[in-house]
Amino acid sequence: MKVLCAVKELQTRLCKLHLAPVGFVPTMGALHEGHLSLVKSAAEQCPVVVVSIYVNPTQFNDKNDLKNYPRTLKNDLELLEKVLRESDIVFTPDNKEIYPEEDKREFHFGNLDNVMEAMHRPGHFNGVAQVVSRFFEIIEPDIAFFGMKDFQQLAVIKELVKLTGSNVKVTGNPIIREKDGLAMSSRNVLLEPHIRNNASVIYKTISAASIMISEKEIAEIKTFVKNSIGKFEGFDVEYFDIVDDTELTPVIKRSEMQKGKRYFACIAVMAGKVRLIDNIEIGLV
Ligand code: PAJ
Repeated sequence: MKVLCAVKELQTRLCKLHLAPVGFVPTMGALHEGHLSLVKSAAEQCPVVVVSIYVNPTQFNDKNDLKNYPRTLKNDLELLEKVLRESDIVFTPDNKEIYPEEDKREFHFGNLDNVMEAMHRPGHFNGVAQVVSRFFEIIEPDIAFFGMKDFQQLAVIKELVKLTGSNVKVTGNPIIREKDGLAMSSRNVLLEPHIRNNASVIYKTISAASIMISEKEIAEIKTFVKNSIGKFEGFDVEYFDIVDDTELTPVIKRSEMQKGKRYFACIAVMAGKVRLIDNIEIGLV
């Protein structure tokens, strides 16, 4: 694999490899098996894969979160070396390469701007859209690989592609979890030990909620989730919503749920000082 940090170098290299379908995996580094599952899918489907490692400042609505975000480039490159091939590229730009000028673009995603993450992290998805659209312009990938872990982000990217008339095919890969069920996340290393020990309660609780839907009303399930997680010291549920997989509109009553449509239970939890998100598909039986 080649490690490149300049846009020009990357484009020259991609030109040389032209005609091969290019797979793209955007990341902010601190790589784990969740990221690597995307890289492996990309390598299976595309003869050329570009993995970007870039902590994008414009998507952080909390300065401390940006400051504390784990940066482990040496280890990331070692992990990628094991899965990438000679033709593949790791792109590690700095801020000047990505934003030679301040990016003032504003994106509007309709209903996606009014629910869940968008309500709790103002400006976050605008920053994600800025950086991802910039990457798409630079790399012109055929397929871009995202994780279902960031469920709303995936929906936003699909909408971005529609809005910008881009030809990139966007795919969503399943969530990779730790042995105890905690969804893998770069932020998990920031969890204090006593918080980490109890963090599996998040997945356990949303799994239980996904079963409860067959007999309980949504308000009751919400109370169950809030209490089951909130009883652990340091844990606080920011939101728990059951949403459809396209508009992501929260369902208020079980009777609104339609057979044949897909629904996901999505959660954000403050676990000590770290904010974690997770989701699970809810099936109607
Ligand atoms: P980051 O959090 O590094 O995630 C990069 C990709 O890995 C995203 O598509 C995310 O959904 C996926 N991912 C993370 N944890 C996962 C898990 N446990 N299982 C499966 N996939 C997982 O998401 C971002 O970076 C940024 O917002 C980015 C898109 C790179 C733009 O800056």
